[in-house]
Amino acid sequence: MSRLFSTTRSIKIASYTLNKNSIKSDNGILQSVGNTPLIKLNKLSEEIGRNIYGKAEWMNPGGSVKDRAALFFIEKAEERGLIKSGGTIVEGTAGNTGIGLAHICRSKGYKCVIYMPNTQSPAKMETLRLLGAEVHPVPVVPFDNENNFNHLARKHAENMENAYWTNQFDNLDNKDAHIASTGPEIYNQLSGKVDGFVCSSGSGGTWSGITEYLKSQNANTKSFIVEPPGSCLYSYVKTKGKSLDKEGGSFTEGIGQGRVTGNVAANIKLCDDSFLIPDQETIIMLYRLIEEEGIFVGGTAALNVIGAIEAAKLLPEGSNIVTILADSAHKYSNKIFSKKFLMDKGLFEGIPVELREKYAILE
Ligand SMILES: Cc1ncc(COP(=O)(O)O)c(C=O)c1O
Repeated sequence: MSRLFSTTRSIKIASYTLNKNSIKSDNGILQSVGNTPLIKLNKLSEEIGRNIYGKAEWMNPGGSVKDRAALFFIEKAEERGLIKSGGTIVEGTAGNTGIGLAHICRSKGYKCVIYMPNTQSPAKMETLRLLGAEVHPVPVVPFDNENNFNHLARKHAENMENAYWTNQFDNLDNKDAHIASTGPEIYNQLSGKVDGFVCSSGSGGTWSGITEYLKSQNANTKSFIVEPPGSCLYSYVKTKGKSLDKEGGSFTEGIGQGRVTGNVAANIKLCDDSFLIPDQETIIMLYRLIEEEGIFVGGTAALNVIGAIEAAKLLPEGSNIVTILADSAHKYSNKIFSKKFLMDKGLFEGIPVELREKYAILE
């Protein structure tokens, strides 16, 4: 018996370290939000002579970075007495925020109502329904039209007793979720040596909150916004707030804006520069992350990694640059690995042959 015990104790795996402080949740799923690993992208870091780190946000229980804002919205509303037991959480969202809210609503016993543009994939609507949410697909209209999905969500909550509209775009609890969690996690994981931070923006909560936290710890940390085509922040940053011009569109989902949201506005003065990345580069990076790093992530994560490389070019050798790997590739696989989809978007031919033969293999 004792021989067996000592043999068992001596088993080691080279790349595994037992973290004696890893999270144990005595509060169901809630405490499993956040505290994600920070992963050095080995090949890319070596290539560029700077350390590129990606925060593995797909490892949240709802599968994305948006779980953090979802938890924070609900617990802040509870703290302020804006929602009570048995109440309803309402949001306008095309995806990950809704998934995050739906998980947390089930865990806390709230109802969850989601308004989304009816152009979104049936799979997204189905996922939300399978998580117990009530889904309202509505026609696409601009933000200044009162039938925009965000306004419909607000009105739904206003017309109900004990209902709360989380308002991810302009509710600053969104950025504060990252001041409370993601920012300090990154800072601790790199023992304070964060030279650059870069990510894309949907509501802008992730970029804004992490930037605010990191710059409050060290004013020399640089922060950048990386943009897909069809979004206005690149032009806004480059023209110092004079233009909201945007052009084209992107296959990435969950990012890109036609306006400066409240969460972005709160910290836009802290933005050092912005990069605009064509979809062609993003899809190649998405495949390279699988091929070279073994990392299977969605389009926004691939775009963010290119942003980190652009930022790295502006920073001294040996710098640490952090970005966000917002979610995994699973939800998008019927697009990003589809030869037909990529051909329709004009993205197939530009992918190196060895990568597209290996990865663009779905119909
Ligand atoms: C996949 C993905 N990446 C990035 C973002 C952007 O995060 P934020 O809304 O904090 O700007 C989102 C937002 O929903 C997302 O779903």
